[in-house]
Amino acid sequence: MKHKIYFIGAGPGSAEHLTIYGLEKLKKSKYVFAPNIYKKTFQKFLKGKEVFDPFDYLFNELVSLIENFREKSSVAFLLPGDETVFSPFQPFIDYYKEECEVIPGVGVVNSASAILKKTLDLPNIANTIVLTSTRSLKSAFEDHDFMQFVKRDVTLVLYMNHIPLEELTKRLIPILGKECPIAILYKISLPEQEVVSGTLGNICRRVKKDYFESSKEPSMAMIIIGYVLKERAKKSSWDYRKKHIWDKRKK
Ligand SMILES: C[S@@+](CC[C@H](N)C(=O)[O-])C[C@H]1O[C@@H](n2cnc3c(N)ncnc32)[C@H](O)[C@@H]1O
Repeated sequence: MKHKIYFIGAGPGSAEHLTIYGLEKLKKSKYVFAPNIYKKTFQKFLKGKEVFDPFDYLFNELVSLIENFREKSSVAFLLPGDETVFSPFQPFIDYYKEECEVIPGVGVVNSASAILKKTLDLPNIANTIVLTSTRSLKSAFEDHDFMQFVKRDVTLVLYMNHIPLEELTKRLIPILGKECPIAILYKISLPEQEVVSGTLGNICRRVKKDYFESSKEPSMAMIIIGYVLKERAKKSSWDYRKKHIWDKRKK
């Protein structure tokens, strides 16, 4: 019998973000593929299991390992954040289709929003949230034209930024203005977590180190840009919904 393969959204780093259902499937899997940071932070749930770093293998090498392991037990992958966005694991999910299950987790953007205590859309401020990256993988990594999404009424969430902050803010200021809020969230939920907030005009002076991608380390920072970060939600928006939507549904 061949056992199932579970692709489990593991959250931004700390084990507390794992869902109860994800934990259940992790517990029953003897073989686990987990990127390095999760080997440390999920230690207590990985005791007695055989743990491998998926990034050590080519696609076919990984498939032969999985095939071997699933003769004996189910196999779990701990996915950074959640599968919804910017996940390199999709080729395996497409390959295994019905033989695998994808379990949702806490995406990095969800954690970032919680840390900032901000929903990323607000009436009259931003009705659209763009999750994008400054690079995209075509035949090789290329710059991605994320600037086409930059607008005053959009909240921009940047993953995997590789553009130096000075240059990034220089490009954004002519469209969004110097006063536009920006937050950089580094290593969310890990012991090294840092959050730096400011405006496009002053963030470079506030940042003390380089949070972004280098040849040695992937970027572990998320950038959120948009006026929604400084606006307070109006109580009238709650009352409007009560009177015009929720009350009417009760009748
Ligand atoms: C390959 S994407 C993974 C996104 C993930 N699938 C999700 O659901 O959020 C990697 C990028 O996510 C962001 N990221 C991942 N973990 C993070 C963390 N703990 N703190 C801040 N940003 C993180 C960084 O922008 C990083 O370059």
